[in-house]
Amino acid sequence: MRPMHHIISTREYSKEMFDEILEMAEKLEPIARGEQHSTILDGKILALLFFEPSTRTRMSFETAMYRLGGKVLNMGSVEASSIAKGESLSDTIRVTSQYADAIVLRHPREGAALMASEYSSSPVINGGDGAGHHPTQTLLDLYTIKRESRLENLNIALAGDLKYGRTVHSLCYALSRYNAQITLVSPPELKLPDRIVDDLKKRNIHIHETESLEDVIENIDVLYMTRIQKERFPDPAEFNRISYKMRLTKDLIQKGKPSLRIMHPLPRVNEISPEIDDTPHAGYFKQAFYGVPVRMAILCKVMGVQI
Ligand code: NCD
Repeated sequence: MRPMHHIISTREYSKEMFDEILEMAEKLEPIARGEQHSTILDGKILALLFFEPSTRTRMSFETAMYRLGGKVLNMGSVEASSIAKGESLSDTIRVTSQYADAIVLRHPREGAALMASEYSSSPVINGGDGAGHHPTQTLLDLYTIKRESRLENLNIALAGDLKYGRTVHSLCYALSRYNAQITLVSPPELKLPDRIVDDLKKRNIHIHETESLEDVIENIDVLYMTRIQKERFPDPAEFNRISYKMRLTKDLIQKGKPSLRIMHPLPRVNEISPEIDDTPHAGYFKQAFYGVPVRMAILCKVMGVQI
């Protein structure tokens, strides 16, 4: 197996690259569930460098390492590291990459993971760079769609904060490889950036845009909801004006197909009503679990370990 080096963005990935990881994840799922034991990453170390809050990305990478017999080095909070003394990101990466076999980096600055990859002697995995990309989330999103709906001829709506939401930016590129029919649902202020729409159009992907979930709910297979990214708004007043828009209720999903699946990278704030959680439509908690086998596959791939 050819090791994959850095994982920075999904833009250049082919369908074969996505499929390979999804197939590996499927094989690893019993280990992720704790039903089988494995030590294939024995002796390997993963460093976690998180400059922004995280629950699922950090903990599912940790779980993936532990379930495969590897170990995790956690930089901990920014305040407790040398960053607080003024160390640059490039120096932190140069040093950490000498300790670990791979690094997961989450950073508020778009482009940080790409920059880090230029200074790192170990593979860098982008765990989210500002409003840029979140490629490992996309891989687990694809896996969830494959397991809970279907990847081929998918009719999907991406809803919420499409401007600042890095998960949708990465997911769009991946969906384009599967010829998905994509509807973008957002308030006008939070539309998908033009550069991404243009890229998708160049790939002959049909994109519809609307402001209302009502318009799309009847025909879609998957509804991918996102949180309005409060922390990325330059003006808090603007956030307050938009934040109440777009809320998914049980009444609304009852208009959808019985097979409709709701996804969300989480955390949700109030964009999905909790009354949906116990319906068969809710896919978001399973989605969070699928992060474990998918990140196991990613780790094996970047560390060059055959499964
Ligand atoms: C997302 C992120 O960090 O971009 N969370 C995640 O990784 N599951 C989504 C978000 O924060 O809204």
